[in-house]
Amino acid sequence: MTLIDVHLTPDYTSRALREDARAGLTADPKWLAPKWFYDARGSELFEQITRLPEYYPTRAEREILQARAAEIAQLTGAHTLVELGSGSSEKTRLLLDGLRDHGTLNTFVPLDVSETALREAAAAINADYPQLTVHGVVGDFTAHLDKLPGEAPRVVAFLGGTIGNLLPTERETFYTSVRDVLEPGEWLLVGTDLVKNPATLVAAYDDSAGVTGEFNRNVLRVLNRQLGADFDVDSFTHVAVWDPENEWIEMHLRADRAMKVLIPEIRLEVDFAEGEEMSTEISAKFHRYGVEAELGKAGFTPAAWWTDTEERYALSLWQAI
Ligand code: SAH
Ligand code: AVI
Repeated sequence: MTLIDVHLTPDYTSRALREDARAGLTADPKWLAPKWFYDARGSELFEQITRLPEYYPTRAEREILQARAAEIAQLTGAHTLVELGSGSSEKTRLLLDGLRDHGTLNTFVPLDVSETALREAAAAINADYPQLTVHGVVGDFTAHLDKLPGEAPRVVAFLGGTIGNLLPTERETFYTSVRDVLEPGEWLLVGTDLVKNPATLVAAYDDSAGVTGEFNRNVLRVLNRQLGADFDVDSFTHVAVWDPENEWIEMHLRADRAMKVLIPEIRLEVDFAEGEEMSTEISAKFHRYGVEAELGKAGFTPAAWWTDTEERYALSLWQAI
């Protein structure tokens, strides 16, 4: 059975996009929030990224899930698996298999801002796991966590390293709000990409086939379509830099020439100087001690820390105190 709750109505999304676009495009330096990458095309481009030779996080996380899904099922005995920022839920099948084989799981709750990605994933999982209730939520994990369905004990999975796309203050708020919606004893499973040699990191975000560049520029296409903006998308160059102070990759779009962009839906005219860079995403990388400090502060106790064999990526399990 499949149910889908939609908390992101067109009105809600359009208001949020207008507010974000105005705030980010009138700031100095300019910025756009990464959640706006993910229209249907953006979600498909992200799927292509996961298959690039340079983009190791997906493969590393899959390796860990393959090795540990049965253990996760054993430790948690979950009745509900919630997945935040679920996208295609491809790797999640490993967890679903482990929990199904353990015999406790009855409900899968994928949540994503991308309605097309969510509906496709929910239908595919429903077809392959007919004994599960798939209760999808079209929602924002920074706003709709109080609306999660499903019976306890629940495991909330936040995979792919998406936690790294939040700023440190946003991470703190996010972890605390996950903790607030869980009962003591319930679980959080988090995927975190680890700090490593900058050349490997930069290559993962600046692939030779140019897919990440297309993904990055897609946010301008979203603004053109949704807000009637006239960004000349091909006049922006994709830039990925490693910030060693903050230990994050920052993705920028650099204006190749001076441009004036009109955004009629929010009555805004934005000037770009030649060479001006606008920030579109951070992707923070972690050390174990940092993850432990943040989760501990939010009210979680550690249950397990697993890495892939090359120690590029970690999956960790936490229990709400
Ligand atoms: N978890 C998947 C997909 C990661 S891509 C994986 O590991 O491969 C990041 C996903 O998070 C996308 O599907 C995107 O639509 C979703 N997303 C980004 N910001 C979000 C937000 N604020 N709320 C809910 N989903 C969000
Ligand atoms: C979804 N998120 C974890 C990806 C990342 O690696 O930060 C998004 C992405 N951006 C560029 N490539 C992939």
